[in-house]
Amino acid sequence: MKFMKTLIEKIDRHQMDEAVLAKAGEILKNGGLVAFPTETVYGLGANALDENAAMKTYAAKGRPSDNPLIIHIADVEDLPIVARNISDKAKQIIERFWPGPLTLIFEKQYIVPFGTTGGLSTVAVRMPTDEIAKAVIRAGGGYISAPSANTSGRPSPTSAQHVADDFDGKIDMIIDGGNVDIGLESTILDMTVEPPMILRPGAITREMLEEVVGEVTVDVTLLVEDSGEAPKAPGMKYRHYAPKAELIIVEGETDDVIKAIRQIAYEQTRLGLKVGIIATSETESFYSNGIVKNIGTRNNENSIAKNLYRVLREFDEDDVSYIYSESFESGGIGDAIMNRLNKAAGHRVIQATDITDLQKYRRVLFVSQSDNCRGPMAAEILRNESLNQEYVIGSRGMVVLFPEPANQKAEAIMRSRQMTLAEHEATQLCEADLDEDTLVLTFEEAQKWKIVSHYENVKHVYTLGEYIDDERVVESSHGQPLQVYGERFELLRELIQKLAERLNEEAKNI
Ligand code: TXA
Ligand code: MG
Repeated sequence: MKFMKTLIEKIDRHQMDEAVLAKAGEILKNGGLVAFPTETVYGLGANALDENAAMKTYAAKGRPSDNPLIIHIADVEDLPIVARNISDKAKQIIERFWPGPLTLIFEKQYIVPFGTTGGLSTVAVRMPTDEIAKAVIRAGGGYISAPSANTSGRPSPTSAQHVADDFDGKIDMIIDGGNVDIGLESTILDMTVEPPMILRPGAITREMLEEVVGEVTVDVTLLVEDSGEAPKAPGMKYRHYAPKAELIIVEGETDDVIKAIRQIAYEQTRLGLKVGIIATSETESFYSNGIVKNIGTRNNENSIAKNLYRVLREFDEDDVSYIYSESFESGGIGDAIMNRLNKAAGHRVIQATDITDLQKYRRVLFVSQSDNCRGPMAAEILRNESLNQEYVIGSRGMVVLFPEPANQKAEAIMRSRQMTLAEHEATQLCEADLDEDTLVLTFEEAQKWKIVSHYENVKHVYTLGEYIDDERVVESSHGQPLQVYGERFELLRELIQKLAERLNEEAKNI
């Protein structure tokens, strides 16, 4: 497509600049393309009654021309000009939900060119709430076709910048009205069938519609992944909203999902891959590997809807190879969120427990008498080993009265090996340390038995030697000269390397 100058104009919703609107109107009436905000996503506007303008729209988006456009109107009185057989149910729905994020399908009037409807004899119509949208529609003659203003196959735009990223130099004008309110495209409801059928979920939910007109059905292709049928909204058959990276949804209880994503991110980061994670305000702090983006709060799914496309676009810039997304609740706008997320993921979903079931231990704790020498050394050596699985590695003492730093000779030895215990503070072993997914390793037999007899829920306590099948024991160096510390360090390192191998064996199936 040949390069053109794209006029980009900011407009204030509460005090609209008439000159900007007049310019947009003039462009639209002359068959040009003007992108503008609506409450759902930005639309790429054109005169809906002009077949050439429709062709331009398809060309700009790179969209197949059998995928019909939605006609946007600003006044209900204009509906009968483009739509026929408007039933009483339709009138009730319009009464309740227009203007708003709801598109209705009717039989089309002759005046609507087949170019706009993708050859169909039906037409999709929507009346947006957004004041800028309404003003642009009126300025442009009242009937404005507007698909989402993104290049076909990219996430829909929720800001003018997103539109410019895709269309600067390719369309006549972009009206910048700031960030959109909802962030997902309108619900599409087919009024040519009885009962009415939802073809695309959005902010107006099935429950909301049923409250007004009784039974409403849902296109089977939205419910069943391999229904074998073609979606009734032609656009829904395409893998829309596709990010550049492979997106994978991780399903399950939030706790399991976090553990599974952590593990995957850990492994893939080790392999040198750049991994993205879609998290929420509640969960983002749990991830330590990968590029983590907060998509909103689970307390308010509207915030998630609003940020979804922006986050997907940002990951395109970050150039990650894989994106792992937490999954979200169904019901309300959650259905629309999961519908878009699933489409972006090409329906790649994994169950969190399939990953977490393979992880026997998530924590390794070394227990010594006072947690200031062998324990912290072992932990730090293990942290420096190459492990297939991510563990929280730490150390504890049987009797710790103060949070003391590590023994100075131990620190001197560690430093001579490019490691340090500078951050270490001795910590008393407690009941909560002995849970199901923690491997507890002591240095001496006596310590092991003390734990077994003094604590209640003891699950996995071994001596280090027992666990790696090696009889050598690293004794306490307390009161010994530095040289002895050095010798025992070497033995400890040898044993910890064996431990790393053993743990990697254990985690091999992941
Ligand atoms: O929220 C929205 O609806 C946004 C804003 C800009 O208004 N627009 C939007 O348009 O999402 P678009 O073109 O990206 O998606 C229109 C969807 C497509 O899936 C298309 O197949 C479907 O509406 N559609 C249009 N006319 C139809 C018809 N006559 N029968 C069935 N589906 C239709
Ligand atoms: Mg679209």
